Amino acid sequence: MGIFSSTKRRGKKMMTCVCCNKPPDENKKQTKKRKTKWSWRIRKERKKKKNGLKSLVGNISFRSNSDKHRSAANEILRVGNENIAARVFKFQELAAATKNFSTSNLLGEGGFGRVYKGCLEGTNEVVAVKQLDRNGFQGNREFLVEVLMLGLLHHQNLVNLLGYCADGDQRILVYEYMPLGSLEDHLLDLSPNKKPLDWYTRMKIAVGAAKGLEYLHDIANPPVIYRDLKASNILLDEDYNPKLSDFGLAKLGPIGDKTHVSTRVMGTYGYCAPEYALTGQLTKMSDVYSFGVVFLELITGRRAIDIKKPTNEQQLVHWAEPLLRDKRKFVQIADPLLKGKFPIKSLYQALAVAALCLHKEASSRPLIGDVVTALQFLINPSNDTAEDSEQSIPEKSSPSNSEIEREIVGNDNVLI
Ligand SMILES: Nc1ncnc2c1ncn2[C@@H]1O[C@H](COP(=O)(O)OP(=O)(O)OP(=O)(O)O)[C@@H](O)[C@H]1O
Ligand SMILES: [Mg+2]
Repeated sequence: MGIFSSTKRRGKKMMTCVCCNKPPDENKKQTKKRKTKWSWRIRKERKKKKNGLKSLVGNISFRSNSDKHRSAANEILRVGNENIAARVFKFQELAAATKNFSTSNLLGEGGFGRVYKGCLEGTNEVVAVKQLDRNGFQGNREFLVEVLMLGLLHHQNLVNLLGYCADGDQRILVYEYMPLGSLEDHLLDLSPNKKPLDWYTRMKIAVGAAKGLEYLHDIANPPVIYRDLKASNILLDEDYNPKLSDFGLAKLGPIGDKTHVSTRVMGTYGYCAPEYALTGQLTKMSDVYSFGVVFLELITGRRAIDIKKPTNEQQLVHWAEPLLRDKRKFVQIADPLLKGKFPIKSLYQALAVAALCLHKEASSRPLIGDVVTALQFLINPSNDTAEDSEQSIPEKSSPSNSEIEREIVGNDNVLI
């Protein structure tokens, strides 16, 4: 419809539709009829989806705090109005897609269950299928929040939830497939035959992750506090573009003048902001702290918590603290796998941003939007001058104090 050609009818120049040769009036009537039919269908579909999610909220049982969880879920539903889109999959469909959840399709395993690679019959769409552990009901809240949150939030740096399956006691989430897996696989669990991430890819991943957070904090309305930023929750597409995943712990943020929401402390040890761990008061700044930890992991190649290291090096932030206080030691912080291939000025700027995000005082941490702005300068090699470009640091040797002093541009304050 819509494309018209000119023909002469009873001496009058008339417009007829190229596909059905009917005059526009007739066509209009039909289009109107069809439109009404379509909009009725769309409304019905939307209603079905909304009711589907509503009944999902109603039918899912929680072992504890049932009313609290249900009202939290209803709140997300209310905020989402009719705009929460999530496809409902049949268990059989997903079993067929994953060859009966075969171990040969296993992509990984986390605290809530296993993730399989799948191929949907009919469309051949490649997907990631997360089957939540059915031992108990503790995953129900996370399952529901994930379905509702990800149905509501859409951004290029957030993983796309395609749908879910809640047949019987099955709780399964279906996501877009991220071919390069998680940041953890490329940074912290690097197999010996894999090439380490170069400096600019690390900065690109940091900027993308920060942009995902910026969307949650500053664009989503009401804002969302992610609560679970860590290397294993940053997934990578074929070009190393990062997407945040796992929204089961996400919280609708404070509304109006409120600066925090009170909640049970959850998240992952090592990434958790100290004030949140102490008081349970969750703010956007708790996410900024977790971002600081991930950013430090990207710079150092060290895990937030690594129990295989000597005691004083097990907690990344504690290990880095004294080094960040001494400019002469900045270079020692960089991941040895980078082999000195990074612009030294960028390293200092990156460390300055990480240190600010990790500030003990939540109110002294930067807003994530400002972090994005600061990091944008670090992803483009053309911003680096010849003298601070790669190889400026000889492998396995530290530059003299005076060299470092010269390299630090306008940044002579202590970082922590
Ligand atoms: N959409 C996806 N595409 C490709 N691989 C994925 C996808 N989602 C998850 N994975 C893989 O599955 C692994 C396990 O993910 P999962 O989120 O279950 O656990 P986790 O993040 O390691 O731990 P936690 O349960 O604490 O979040 C990831 O590390 C990643 O390698
Ligand atoms: Mg995860």
